[in-house]
Amino acid sequence: MESLRIIGTGSYLPPRVVTNDDLVRGGLDTSDEWITKRTGIRERRIAAPEVVTSDMAAQASLNALEMAGLKARDIDLIILATVTPDTHCPAAANWLQDKLDAHRAATFDITAACSGFVFGMNIAEQYLKNRTFRHVLVVGAEVMTRVVDWSDRGSCVLWGDGAGAAVLAMGEEGAQLLSTHIHSDGSQGKSLLLPGAGSMASPVTHESVDKGMHHLKMIDGKTVFRAAVHGFMDAIVEAARHNNIAVEDIDWIIPHQANIRMFQNISQTMNIPMEKFYLTIPKYGNISAASCAIALDEAVRDGSIQKGHLISMPVFGGGITWGGAMIRW
Ligand code: UT7
Repeated sequence: MESLRIIGTGSYLPPRVVTNDDLVRGGLDTSDEWITKRTGIRERRIAAPEVVTSDMAAQASLNALEMAGLKARDIDLIILATVTPDTHCPAAANWLQDKLDAHRAATFDITAACSGFVFGMNIAEQYLKNRTFRHVLVVGAEVMTRVVDWSDRGSCVLWGDGAGAAVLAMGEEGAQLLSTHIHSDGSQGKSLLLPGAGSMASPVTHESVDKGMHHLKMIDGKTVFRAAVHGFMDAIVEAARHNNIAVEDIDWIIPHQANIRMFQNISQTMNIPMEKFYLTIPKYGNISAASCAIALDEAVRDGSIQKGHLISMPVFGGGITWGGAMIRW
């Protein structure tokens, strides 16, 4: 039966591993014990200084295209979800297009913070279902470690770098993307803020740099934590109800990878066994829009996901944004 499909996934992680002990050795006032206990993170990947977001996005995309059996010229649209684009203009998706030589594709970036990959799939769904495009490449890619404030131990330990990608198409082969769901609440925008080179922080001055306006700011981690737990749970329930699926019939929860304690909390509240959460948090930390795309690709490639499995992908991010997807592999 022809329906919306994920026909290829791919990911890329920079090779440099930085452990919690490495951060301590680098002078940060923290400990492996604190970070592991409060977040589940043991290490993260950090991109080399010359590597930009579109470089990692290109590697992930090539892997996804290979799995899909497509060439870059087959792609009609590239949607790149990121809060750390190479440049604000042009979009990082344009740099990516050039690196892939996907010359037929239209391109744009989207900003939905850590929820960006699911927002991207939701946009792709509209174009594919109304037959505007045949093949859409959705990518989440971030160099978060370049925008964090390395003197703020409360947030800098959380983040890492990497990219994940998926090729979506209408067809009869591949995993069925049963539904996507997206939500936002701008009234809570200040809880997780990246003024960067936006108009709030422009023009860039010595004063704005001294104030750290170029850094990611997490105003109240505990509030973000609570909102994320609720956002994830709502997203799991919404996608299950929409597809008439009982939550206990879901084989894998592949969430945005924020903090292991969030999922321990959700596991208890919703009675979902922890083994059903596919988590990359310990080895990669939080890679914002790339996190769930990388986890999906790894779960496919390591054989955790088998044909017929039901996968729920709840996401939550700054903005605030949240949403979910239901996939039948
Ligand atoms: O994609 C969504 C993005 N955001 C998130 O995922 C973040 C959501 N929030 C969280 O995950 C948690 O709030 C954090 C992991 C960020 C913090 O955990 P917490 O249990 O909320 O800790 P806290 O901020 O309340 O800090 C508790 C203590 C404080 O010390 P005092 O005041 O009790 O003496 C902090 O100064 O822990 C201290 N602390 C640290 N100690 C060692 C904060 N960060 C660190 C650290 N190492 N890295």
